[in-house]
Amino acid sequence: MNVTRKWRRWFAVGCTHANHIDRKSWDIVLAFKERWAPEMTIHLGDFLDTAAWRAGARNSQDDPDKTISFSDDYLVGMTHLKELRPDVVMLGNHEARLWSMLRSSSAVVAYAAEQGTQAIEQAVKKLKARLLPYDIDDGLFLLGDTVFLHGFQCGEAAVRDTVESLGKPIVMAHLHRPEITRGRVRGSPVGICTGTLANIPSMGYARHRRATYRWGHGFAYGEYCADATVAWLATPVKDEWRFPL
Ligand SMILES: [Fe+2]
Repeated sequence: MNVTRKWRRWFAVGCTHANHIDRKSWDIVLAFKERWAPEMTIHLGDFLDTAAWRAGARNSQDDPDKTISFSDDYLVGMTHLKELRPDVVMLGNHEARLWSMLRSSSAVVAYAAEQGTQAIEQAVKKLKARLLPYDIDDGLFLLGDTVFLHGFQCGEAAVRDTVESLGKPIVMAHLHRPEITRGRVRGSPVGICTGTLANIPSMGYARHRRATYRWGHGFAYGEYCADATVAWLATPVKDEWRFPL
């Protein structure tokens, strides 16, 4: 039987991390997105950095743990979302810090978290995008036969384990390392990690470990139809992005 499939284009980025973004790569990736003209654009989460919500974050000028204010982080991250014009926005573990602070035993912290989460929800609504929580069930977005998610695991086998736990092809972010791998399950579905679009040398906390050598810029794009998805991982070569169009 001949099946006629109607294919549409999709585009996904993740881990842009607000003020840490690599502006040069971001502009190049956005320009490609315009040429690709996808019908579905997804931000896979960590559009904010939320350093101000880390335990031990300080506001004092000369404190070594002084972090960028949440309002600056929010304004920069939301500007990136406006530039991206996503249809779906996922919360990553960085945004999820605010949602977990809604349950803080400090009334002041819980109130601040309420203001922050509401601001994010309203801004994403204004973009007419769907906001997905950082949640192992509700944070999954199915397009064709592929599951898009921020990612919940770290470590060597994170992409493979995510593919195998869902039993479907996946596109995730979270690890900051562009990667393609297959699951050891029937049909051997493919898992992609998009990498990050943050300026890697500026991520001070990750500069003292070997795993950071594998971090890299990237994003994913492809086509989808009712029952299938094609996915490609784009990464730069010698600091140059090469695209098919
Ligand atoms: Fe993440």
